[in-house]
Amino acid sequence: MRYASTLVLGAILTAGIAFARPQPADEQPDVSAEVKASRDAARQFGGALKEALQQAIKTGGPTNGIAVCHDQAGQIAADLGSKLDMIIGRTSLKTRNPGNAPDNWELAVLKQFEARKAQGEPADKLEFFAVIEDDQGQKTFRYMKAIPTGALCLACHGDKLDPEVDAKLKALYPNDTARGFKEGDLRGAFTIAKPLP
Ligand code: HEC
Repeated sequence: MRYASTLVLGAILTAGIAFARPQPADEQPDVSAEVKASRDAARQFGGALKEALQQAIKTGGPTNGIAVCHDQAGQIAADLGSKLDMIIGRTSLKTRNPGNAPDNWELAVLKQFEARKAQGEPADKLEFFAVIEDDQGQKTFRYMKAIPTGALCLACHGDKLDPEVDAKLKALYPNDTARGFKEGDLRGAFTIAKPLP
C-alpha cells in the first residue's frame, strides 16, 4: 500500500519514529471507531487464515497448506476488506511474496515493532496507528498489528523445511526471504488502511 506520509495524528507509543507536522489536538480527527474496527478486522483476518491453514494441513500436510496461503490469503483479505470498507493486507521485513513488501510508512512501523519487542513489549500486543495526509490533502487512517511466529508457522517459515515443502515454495516464490524464523519472532504485521472523509 503506497501513501505519501505526513503524519497528522501520532498514536500510542511512538518509539523509534519521528514524523513531520503533528497537528494541534483540536484538529485531530477522532479515530476511536477506526481503531476498534481495525482491531476487529485484524482479529477476523488472522482467525480466518489460521483456520483455513490448520484445516488444509490436517487434510493434506504442509504442502497442501501452501495452497491456502498462495491462493486464499489475498482473497480472504479482499473479501473482508470490501465487507468492512477497508484495505487489508499483510506485510513483513522479510517477505515471501514481493507483492507484500512494506511501503515507507509500513517499513518504519515494522522497525518500531522490532525495537519495542527488543525492549520487552509482548509481541502479540504490538500495534500502531496514525492518520496520514497525501499531497492532495486526502487523509487516510492507517493501522498495523504485529504477527508473532507460532509453532504452526515453522513448517513453512522456519529453518528446516520438509524437502517437498521447500521445493514447492522455491517453485512458487523464487525471491522468498520469509525463512529462518523462530517461535516468538515477529513474522510480520497486519496492515489496514481506511480513507477518511
Ligand atoms: C503451509 C505453509 C505456510 C504456513 C504453515 C504458514 N505460512 Fe505464512 N506464508 C506462506 C506462503 C506461501 C506465503 C505467501 C503468500 C502470498 O503469496 O501472499 C506466506 C506469507 C505470509 C505472510 C505475508 C508476508 C510475506 O512473507 O509475504 C505473513 C505475515 C505470514 N505468512 C505469516 C505466517 C504466520 C504468522 C504463520 C503461522 C501462524 C504462517 N505464516 C504459516 C506459507 C505458510
